[in-house]
Parts: sequence; structure tokens; C-alpha cells
Amino acid sequence: MELSRSGTDTTETRALGMDKIVIRGGNKLEGMVRISGSKNAALPIMAATLLSSGESIIENVPDLKDVSTMAHVLRILGAQVRPEDNRLTIDTRACRYWEAPYELVRTMRASVYVLGPLIARLGRARVSLPGGCAWGPRPVDFHLRGLTRLGADVRIEHGYIVAESQGLRGAEIVFEVPSVGATANLMMAATLAKGKTVMRNVALEPEITALAEYLNGMGARITGQGSPVIEVEGVSELRAGKGVVIPDRIEAGTYIIAGLVTGGHLHLENCSASHMGGMIDQLVEAGATIRAGESSIEVQGSGRLRSVDMTTAPFPGFPTDMQAQYMALMSLASGTSVITDEVFHDRFTHVPELRRLGADIEVEGNRATVRAVDHLSGAPVMASDLRASAALVLAGLVAERQTEILRVYHIDRGYERIEVKLRLLGADIERVRAEM
Ligand code: EPZ
Repeated sequence: MELSRSGTDTTETRALGMDKIVIRGGNKLEGMVRISGSKNAALPIMAATLLSSGESIIENVPDLKDVSTMAHVLRILGAQVRPEDNRLTIDTRACRYWEAPYELVRTMRASVYVLGPLIARLGRARVSLPGGCAWGPRPVDFHLRGLTRLGADVRIEHGYIVAESQGLRGAEIVFEVPSVGATANLMMAATLAKGKTVMRNVALEPEITALAEYLNGMGARITGQGSPVIEVEGVSELRAGKGVVIPDRIEAGTYIIAGLVTGGHLHLENCSASHMGGMIDQLVEAGATIRAGESSIEVQGSGRLRSVDMTTAPFPGFPTDMQAQYMALMSLASGTSVITDEVFHDRFTHVPELRRLGADIEVEGNRATVRAVDHLSGAPVMASDLRASAALVLAGLVAERQTEILRVYHIDRGYERIEVKLRLLGADIERVRAEM
């Protein structure tokens, strides 16, 4: 893994950002693909190392831009982060800074995960408010309200979250809606609070369960993960952690749809069907043939799928992170489907780009009506956010002639070597380096 030591925005990284991916569609994908570690499990676990003073080890970390960014944030806070292939060693013994600056947080919202650990371990934190993202506002009110419940003094100053505490105290926290980020942040903070914290209506995502297990390996006392109520008995200190990142269920879902949309036959290794929630049921209802093994999934594409309505929901529902990819698939199904995103109501930046490829999609509020077409035809399109970009790659795999996807840095945030993995499966795909 090549984490940019300085991590600054050099000419090189800027040029990389302007790379494009060129796909000539029409090839069926065949073969085996290994699913990488989960980005959304790795990022909070990296932040959790701040709760201890020692050398934590994290295995099966994916080689992604967001992981490099989180490593950079940890270095700014005084940690030493040593990448070695897909293993990270994070030494937090020299950590004494508590500020995560705007120029980093604006590039990755998940930087806000350092808030809970900093306030719990150092008694203070100054973290830039994450801006919005490609598809709209991403509030953090649940995070701030929860920290206040735990006894921290939290205020917003010049675009920064400023939090101070003389020592957190356990509390009862009830979430209006399940939030992955707020559940992670507050669970981390509660591990060092005095007394017991009870969190209700928490996120049930596998990444939360994985984080709780990593924290318990550090000496935390967390129960209920994977259920709507998580309890945390505070302890006085935590030891350095050691653990393996779970497979990335969204990367897996993306490759399953790649197999279906190209009519191919894929074996996904190192993935767990139990993490896929409602994803597989939805695709089987649309006519997909999917066989799940202990740690592998086989998908056989065969002709057009049925158009089936889908509504996203927190785990174990159909994940919002797969909404764009599913829309690409439904663009070529055999009827009309209605796709509703109940988690992020405006997550449709992929729609205008899919339309450029010939898709017939109308958006109204948080609902998209997809009328399947016979074929898509290649064109230059613009990546905008991580999962929208994945949807454009999927569409490009099957669109006639050539599709060019610009600004691939969005894809590199969450997909490890996507063009390498797809080329090995038979796709006619290449990354074209931007002129320096
Ligand atoms: C996490 O984001 C993921 N990111 C997102 O994946 C994912 O889309 C999202 O969970 C939903 O599954 C990471 O894990 C790094 P939320 P997060 O808090 O934590 C509202 C990707 O592509 N909300 O679960 O930011 C919020 O607006 C990324 O990998 C508040 O109102 O999402 C949304 O409607 C994109 N106030 C709902 O809760 C808050 O303080 C769920 O959001 C927090 C959230």
C-alpha cells in the first residue's frame, strides 16, 4: 500500500485525480475476484486506535484513498502510521494533538470519527464540521447531541466542532433514526466514560459489529452490537488493538451487479453473504441466480432481469450505497422500476450521467422512475461521488462502443484497483493517466 507520506495535495496527486477510466463495453465478465477489506469498517477502527496508547495492528486494510486520508489525519494528531501491504501498524504513544483541520475533513467526512476518541482520551477535540458531499447536506447533529449527553461541552466555532470534557459520564442515548457514523463515534467515546451508556435505535450494519469487536479486543466492555440496543460499561483505559477488517459488502454487491449486467459468471472470494442484508433477496427477486457459500458468492448472469421496485433502508435493508449500482442494472432490465432512497433523499447525482449513456430515468423528490431501454451507448461521463462513479463503470461495461469516466479519484476513494480487478475478469478497461 502506498500511503502518501506527506499526503499533501501535490501535482502528482492532482494529476492522479484527473485520470480517466476508458471502457469498451460488451464483454461478459468471467472468473474469480477477491473482495477487499471494508472501507467503512477500516475507517472507524483506525480512529479507535486513538483511544489507546500503544501499537495497534489492523489487517486486511484496503488500499484506498480514504484510508490514506484517515492515516494522514492520525499523523496530524501525532500518531505514527506504518502501512505494509494490507496491514497497518498505528502507534499512538505520541498522540497529544486534538485538531482535525478543515482541509482534510472536507475531503473525507469520515474524519469526524476522531471526535469521539479524542474527547474520550484527551478531554478535548477541535474537528472541522464536515461539509456537505456531492449529493447534499450530511448533518452531524446526532454526534454532537450524543457527546453532550455523555457530559462533554460541545460548541461550533468558525466551522469547527469544539468539544471539552473533564471526564465523560455514561448516559442513555436514543437515536431518531439509525446512524452508522453517530453509533460508531458515540460507542467509541462511551468506552472510556465513567459508568454505563445505553444507546437505543443504533445502526445494525456489520461495520458497527466489527468496530465493537475490535474495541472489545482493546479491553472495552460492549454488548448488544448487531441489535437495536448497545450497552457500554466504561473502563479507565484501553490497550492497543489487533484485528482483521471484514470484507467490503458494497464492493461485493458492486461486482455481483457487474456479473449480472454483463451476463457473465463470477466467483467472489472472501465475502460473506450474511453481511449482504436485503441485497441478495432483491437481486434474486429480479431474476438473478446467486449461490452463497461460507465465504464466497457465485453469480450467474443470464439475459435481462425483471424490473423490480426497490427502497433503500438501514441494515438489513437494501443499502443506500448500492442504490446507484442497482439503478444502472434496472436501466437495462425489462420494464419500469421505481427506486426510492429513504436514507439520503437526494442521492441521484448519477442520474444525469446515466442519461448521457441513454438510460431513461426521471427523478421526483427521493424517487427515480427507471424505464428499461434495449441498450446503452458509450459517452464521456463525469464521476461525482464514490457510488455514482461505480454505477457509471457498471453501465460502461455493457454500453456499446466507448465510455470515458472522468475524475476517477472518486472511485479510488472506495474501490481497490477497480480497473485491474475488472480487466482480470475480461473487461476491456484501462486507466488513462492525465498528462502531468
Ligand atoms: C455511513 O455514512 C457510510 N459512510 C456511508 O457510506 C453510508 O451511505 C451511510 O453510512 C448509510 O449507510 C461510512 O461508513 C464512512 P448515517 P454516515 O449517519 O455515517 C442522518 C460510502 O459510499 N443523520 O448512517 O454519514 C443522515 O442524514 C459512504 O461508503 C442525521 O440526520 O451516514 C442520513 O439520512 C457514503 N444526523 C441518516 O441519518 C446525524 O448526525 C443515515 O446517515 C447523522 C446522520
